[in-house]
Amino acid sequence: MSKIQAAITAVHGYAPEYVLTNHELETMVETNDEWIMSRTGIKERRILKGEGLGTSDMAVPAVKALLEKRGISAEEIELIIFCTTTPDMPFPATANILADKIGAKNAWGFDLQAACSGFVYGLATGAQFIESGKHTKVLVVGFDKMSSIINYQDRATCIIFGDGGGCALLEPNTEGLGIIDSVLKSDGAGRSFLHQKAGGSLKPASHETVDAMEHYAYQEGQTVFKFAVTNMAEVAAEIMDRNRLTPDDIAWLVPHQANKRIIDATANRMGISADKVIVNIERYGNTTNGTIPLCLWEWESKFKKGDNLVLAAFGGGFTWGSLYLKWAY
Ligand code: UT7
Repeated sequence: MSKIQAAITAVHGYAPEYVLTNHELETMVETNDEWIMSRTGIKERRILKGEGLGTSDMAVPAVKALLEKRGISAEEIELIIFCTTTPDMPFPATANILADKIGAKNAWGFDLQAACSGFVYGLATGAQFIESGKHTKVLVVGFDKMSSIINYQDRATCIIFGDGGGCALLEPNTEGLGIIDSVLKSDGAGRSFLHQKAGGSLKPASHETVDAMEHYAYQEGQTVFKFAVTNMAEVAAEIMDRNRLTPDDIAWLVPHQANKRIIDATANRMGISADKVIVNIERYGNTTNGTIPLCLWEWESKFKKGDNLVLAAFGGGFTWGSLYLKWAY
């Protein structure tokens, strides 16, 4: 029997309706559209508005649409890996909350925290359960409500992040399609440059931590930029070398959307021309775990069976990684 590989058999996404433009940000902090566009490539981002709505509420419509598209019921899902940095609650896992909301009664699941590299880590993790034969339907979800941890008085972070994401279904494939390889890396020494200071066990939330704005994302942008630009390009080049892929072999580069300059540097290092690089950062900003599935969803109709896709991400942790797959439909 030929080897079992984990193939993506359906994708879907969701972005909330509210559009936060650079022009609106100009009324909130000392910034301007020209600076944001030239430094990041971001024009607007989506924000989940409304009381009582969390990350799982964006995942529900995306997963429901995915199931309908694939023609399967929620009861058929065996495992949910929910990649997020903004879970509905510190516990229980948002995977459990999602399973309840969509009626995935036979699934087990867990949250995966790898910041912006989460979806790449999640696909690589989900693939193990398919390749081993343990499961046949694994749902990998990547969503963030970044607006819940962003200080809209901090121009260093509020211009970058947005809300949204998507999901992918992994199923077994024996035709040589699906996830072929992944290279995953991390270095916890980078944690001081991008993190949320309070709200964890190290510094539980208190009046003092709220007054000090420590429940918001903190980023030393320039340092993160330097690591991201080098490491994301490096890991994408490594997966090409390992799999003897030339730029011509690659149909699409699917990069994490943190900064257009980081995306361009990665594509240049790989020798990939701009027409093969998926970019929607202009419309969504950085949705953390949501960027790559949002890209897959929006470009789905352009992919052809057998297309070689390379995914690449870098994020807080530090975490970074690249994944090589053959599109299966
Ligand atoms: O996805 C997870 C990983 N995260 C990333 O990959 C993000 C990586 N970092 C970045 O994308 C960039 O560092 C930022 C977009 C966050 C910032 O861009 P930068 O080119 O690194 O700007 P900077 O922080 O070096 O600031 C340059 C100047 C400073 O002014 P002076 O000191 O040169 O006078 C800042 O005060 O730009 C100023 N500045 C701004 N000006 C207008 C910083 N933020 C803003 C702003 N609007 N929003």
